[in-house]
Formats: sequence, C-alpha cells, structure tokens
Amino acid sequence: MTLDARERLIVALDLPSVDAAEKMIAALGESVLFYKIGYQLAFAGGLPFAAGLIAAGKQVFLDLKLHDIGNTVQKGVESVAQMGATFLTVHGYPQTMKAAVAGKHGSTLRLLAVTVLTSYDDADLAAAGYDMGVSELAAARARQARDIGIDGLVCSPEEAATLRGIAGPGMVLVTPGVRPAGSASGDQKRIMTPARAIEAGADYLVVGRPVTEAADPRRAADAIVAEIGQATGN
Ligand code: C5P
Repeated sequence: MTLDARERLIVALDLPSVDAAEKMIAALGESVLFYKIGYQLAFAGGLPFAAGLIAAGKQVFLDLKLHDIGNTVQKGVESVAQMGATFLTVHGYPQTMKAAVAGKHGSTLRLLAVTVLTSYDDADLAAAGYDMGVSELAAARARQARDIGIDGLVCSPEEAATLRGIAGPGMVLVTPGVRPAGSASGDQKRIMTPARAIEAGADYLVVGRPVTEAADPRRAADAIVAEIGQATGN
C-alpha cells in the first residue's frame, strides 16, 4: 500500500463537544487529513458533524465498535456506509463480522475488527466465560476476520508484527497506543513511537492526546508525520 506519511496519521477527536472538535480541526488545518470519532463525540452530535467533515474532504474513522444481532449490525453498517466514512470498527465475533461485511457490500467503507479489547487480560476473559487467553483469542479472531472478509484490524503496536503474519499483506493494521518520544503515556500501557509502530507493520496510527493536548497541536501532528515519513521513506 503506497500512502503518503500524512495519510497514515489518524487524530482521535476524544473531545466533549462539536464546538471543541471544530476548534481542534481549525487549529490542525491541512496538517491532518483523517479523524477518529468515538463514543464521547459521537453521542454529543458527532455523527452529523462527521458527515460535515467528510463533505469538507476529510476522512473519518467511526470507532463505534458495533456488536448486536446480525440484522441490526448489517442495517447499521449500511447507514454508516451511506455517510461516506472510511473506517468503522466492529467487535471480532464471527456473526457480527459476517453481518458487517454484508452491510458494507458495494461501498467504499472499510471494516476494522477489534480482536480483544486492550483493557482485557486473561483474568478478564476468564471472568467473561472464555477458556483461552488474550493472545490465543486475538489470533483466532484475526484469522476469522481475514476469512470473513474484514478489511483490517485494530491492534496495539506490540501485536502488529504477529497479527501481520496472520492477516497477510492485504489487511490494514491500525494501531493506537502511539507516543512520540518524550510525550506522556497517559493511561496507555503498551506504547511505541510512531516510527517503531510503522516498522512493526502498522499502516495507520491513531494518536489522540499527544496531538490534542499539545501546546501547539499542529506542530505536534507535523512532527509525527515527519517521523512516519522517515520510517516509510514517503
Ligand atoms: O489519547 P490516545 O492517543 O491514547 O488515544 C488513543 C485512541 O485510540 C483513543 O480514542 C482510544 O479509545 C483508542 N483506542 C485505544 N486502544 C484500543 C482501541 C482504541 O487506545 N485498543
């Protein structure tokens, strides 16, 4: 996949209001082309706002982590596909993934599966009734996602190399948990620098607070893009 360095940076708009998001986007200007909208902004007017961003030429990743009965997932994905979003997350359950693939049929939407939430450890899985650990379940779901026709996976940078081996070159790997050298890790436990995440096999990097909480967000984004460019040679 040949992408410019700037196309690989996705800034997470984890902000409380459309007003705050608009200010951030204005500050970032042409430095950022791709934005991720999750629960916080989506449920505060972020869905119509996302449609406006798309109309203004930006790419949007809707991080809604869908999971429901197949019919509901399929119809929901059909609606997201009509919005013109680029990426949408669904949980990596086979029935959910199959329904999502049916829902995006014929659109340019790309589906990303969440294999196992990164806040889960083996004890959380056991408490939820699973008889396998995180790495085994993540690998099994990555194989299922590939076979079902899901376009990509969300994973930590540490998992990227292993999952690339399962997913093959055709699937997109999107990694949060990216921190430029010297920036605060916040609540992220498994972090890598932008360059190392790219070297580990990530196609796209999701970065939130190191950009949105920087004194100069545009400069922070440009520095990340420069580091991505050094790692990719683009
Ligand atoms: O601020 P920060 O760079 O940590 O933001 C990372 C973003 O990626 C947040 O929106 C977070 O919800 C999301 N994310 C994550 N880990 C995952 C999946 C999504 O950090 N496994």
